Amino acid sequence: PPLGAMINLRDIEEVAKKVMSMKAWHYYRSDAEDGYTYRNNFAALTHYFFRPRILREVGQVDTSTFILGMPSSLPIFAGPAAMAGLGHPDGEKNIVRSAANGGILYGISSNASCSLEEIAGARQPDQPLIFQLYIAKDRKVSADVLKKVECLGFKAIMFTVDAPVLGRREFDMRTRIVADDDEQENAPPNSKGGVSATIDGYFDVDIGWKDVEWLQRQTKLPIIIKGIQTVEDCLLAAEYPGVKGILISNHGGRQADYAPASIDVLYELRQTHPEVFDKVEVYVDGGFRRGTDIVKAVCLGAKAVGLGRSFLYANAAYGERGVSKTIEILREEIVNCMQQIGLTSLSQARPEMIKYMERTVE
Ligand code: FNR
Repeated sequence: PPLGAMINLRDIEEVAKKVMSMKAWHYYRSDAEDGYTYRNNFAALTHYFFRPRILREVGQVDTSTFILGMPSSLPIFAGPAAMAGLGHPDGEKNIVRSAANGGILYGISSNASCSLEEIAGARQPDQPLIFQLYIAKDRKVSADVLKKVECLGFKAIMFTVDAPVLGRREFDMRTRIVADDDEQENAPPNSKGGVSATIDGYFDVDIGWKDVEWLQRQTKLPIIIKGIQTVEDCLLAAEYPGVKGILISNHGGRQADYAPASIDVLYELRQTHPEVFDKVEVYVDGGFRRGTDIVKAVCLGAKAVGLGRSFLYANAAYGERGVSKTIEILREEIVNCMQQIGLTSLSQARPEMIKYMERTVE
């Protein structure tokens, strides 16, 4: 179907599922084990309702914000999701270009399909990019990568901490892309298969809080800790002077199954420790597909919301135009939501505009 027929992000996801190779679809869609966290990310969002205010003169709506001082036209960013090249030959470069056109930030995965030089080359002059780091067993390797991304002009480091080992992603495990048929025959039945297997093993399982200190010594760039899943860890992370942002995330349900929904952790943090939001910027991701989802998170104190799969799917289905369309759909939905609930700027978004409801609807 033509891109113009796409009304929302789910429409684009449906197209991606149809046009992608089985291997690529399984890698992108994969979740851990029984997918409870994957599905709960969506389900939890349905429990947060708005308390819309009326007669607020919503003719002019400003959706812009700053993320670590970098301007963003919307309170969203493209999250670091590996191997954009599985979906489209131009891989991350398409997302870089669409992010520039749409005025949003993009976090480049440690496991990007394109080289860092290619990605930097696809940038607009002055387009800020974030680099997502997994720490390698050999710290020297990571130290060199950090030097390189600083030289290339990346503006922040997103340190992912929810993946000491990969989650057991069963769609992906069943795919088993092994180059050599014999090897495939001989692969033990429970060995990791799929795309994940090819990128596992290189990163350190023994990362700890000491590595946040190590990272602070390696880079002057602001650090975002990605993959925080409890209020306790939000508080710990916010103690490090180099840590300027925390991203509440369960990796889109790809890591610990039964990790809590990100929106619920954000809500608990806002209820119990509102002061944290003044100390560090708080971001959230996992299952955000609608402008309403994003505005809810902003009301609960999130500076911005990341999306992972949606941009990969759009890139796979329609390339750069699809990624741009995804941003524009979200822009329209965010503006519409703000107008419906009486917000003309994101700075007016407050927790009082949200009500948690035990009851929701199917
Ligand atoms: C990811 N994610 C991820 N995170 C990260 O820090 N480094 C990475 O390399 C990847 N790779 C990756 C690949 C794929 C295919 C997906 C779907 C996700 C997690 C990503 O940054 C983000 O946390 C989730 O994708 C957010 O959830 P949604 O928006 O996909 O529901």
